[in-house]
This record gives sequence, structure tokens and C-alpha cells, in this order.
Amino acid sequence: MSESPSRLVTAVVVVAAGSGQRLGYGMPKAAVPLGSETILMHALRGIVASEVATQVCVALPAGDEGLRQLCEEFRAELADGGPLVTVVDGGDTRADSVRAGIAALMEGIEAVLVHDAARALAPEAVFHRVADALASGAAAVIPALPVVDTIKTVAATTGSGAALAPEVVTGTVARGELRMVQTPQGFRLDTLLEAHRAAQDLDRQQSAAVTDDAMLVEMLGTPVHVVRGSTQSLKITTPLDLIFAEGLLEGPLGARWVEG
Ligand code: CTP
Ligand code: MG
Repeated sequence: MSESPSRLVTAVVVVAAGSGQRLGYGMPKAAVPLGSETILMHALRGIVASEVATQVCVALPAGDEGLRQLCEEFRAELADGGPLVTVVDGGDTRADSVRAGIAALMEGIEAVLVHDAARALAPEAVFHRVADALASGAAAVIPALPVVDTIKTVAATTGSGAALAPEVVTGTVARGELRMVQTPQGFRLDTLLEAHRAAQDLDRQQSAAVTDDAMLVEMLGTPVHVVRGSTQSLKITTPLDLIFAEGLLEGPLGARWVEG
């Protein structure tokens, strides 16, 4: 059997600088309790356990001393042998936070995995699939899952009371070609740098439409490869998602990682 290609020197940029409006805890989402720890700590432990990272760079809400302290303690806990843990102030948008993270990477990094702290329970196997695809030569890799619901387009209603106005279906989308995209998204460092450099030229409306890093790479015309994601990588966005995540931690298998 042939050996798989060796992995690139990799940094994980963890974006954790959001305010968590939709979760509604009145504190940054990264600091919200999950099980016996915070959302951020679960995300960090998962990354370190996967052993893909030489450096973990965390973008935190600017001036959040509590989260900064948490990262300090985690750094001390890792001591020797673990990845370098770096903390930076995030920005106003997710893309700004990613850029702040990239700017703090150490010399010698060849690949970057950009990961939402909000996907706190992403399994190790997904990190491995993304890192392995990069090692095999892909410049950009995203984990994704097929869409299970039927998806339709509608004539969106606007104006006051729009939520109550009945919408009319304009079509049904062929589901076979659709994917729900997750993080960690992996990139060769030069590809990610080029993508984010190009993003600076977008106008405000175009920037607002950019919801992930792969989209910026697509704009360059560079192929983005897809590997299998995991339902366990759910993005904790609403209170119901937090209940799901709590359920995963307490699940009948009693294991932290229940799904590859
Ligand atoms: N994020 C970030 N910097 C921002 C905005 C978002 O680092 N300025 C991060 C979040 O911390 C999160 C990830 O991007 O880990 C995905 O964003 P989202 O789920 O939207 O988190 P929030 O922006 O915190 O939530 P909300 O939109 O409900 O306020
Ligand atoms: Mg947000």
C-alpha cells in the first residue's frame, strides 16, 4: 500500500471574535458555556487533539480580557509539545478576523485551516480529511454535507409585514448538486493570502455577500475541492443549536467524538 503524502506545516486560524447576537447570551459566543467548558475551549481542544496544527491563531473580540485569559491558560496547559497558541484582536466582520489571524502566522507555515469557533464539536476526522487533501495537492479544500431538505426558490416579498406575506414558489432546486458547507476550510497559504488581498477590492455590498473563505478563492478561479464534513460540525448559532451540542456531549455513546 502506498503511503499518503506527508502533511504541510499547518496553522489553524480560529475565528472567535463574533458577538453571538443570535444566540442571545449577552456575551461573545466563544465565552458561552458548553458542557463544563466554553464553546471556545471545546473548539481549541478539538483542534489540538487532531494534531494537524503547528500554530493555532485565535481571533478574539477586541479587548475581551476573559477570553484572552482563557487562551493564556490553555497555552500554559499545553506547555511543551503542543502547537504555538497565538491570540489576536478580531475585526468588524468575519473576513476581517480571518485577515487578522493570517497576519499573525509564524514563519514557515505552508497551509492554513480557517475554523469557526462556533463549530466547537467538529471531529478530528474532518481536520484530517482537509489536511490530507491539501497534502495531496489541493490549493483549497472545504468540508461539506449533502442537503437533506427539498430546496425551493420563492419570489421574496419585501416591505412592512413581509414575514407574514405569503411567498410564491418560483422553482425547485436540483438537490443533488447542493452542499452545505462547513469549516475547517483549508488553503495553501499563498492561495489564501491572494484571495484575501483580492477581497480588499470588493465594494461594501460584495463584501457583505462573502460568507466564507472558499468563496474568495472561487473568485480567483482556483478550484476548491470538497471532502466529507460531519453533522457533528454544526455551527452553534441559535439556542436550539446549543441544545443539540449539549446533547452530543452527553449522548448515549458518552464520547466526545461520535461521528467521523
Ligand atoms: N466571527 C469573527 N469575527 C466577526 C464575526 C464573526 O471572528 N467579526 C466568527 C464568530 O466568532 C464565529 C464565526 O465567525 O465563530 C461564524 O460567525 P457566526 O456564527 O455568525 O458568529 P457570530 O457573528 O458571533 O454570531 P451572530 O451572527 O449571531 O452575532
Ligand atoms: Mg455573525
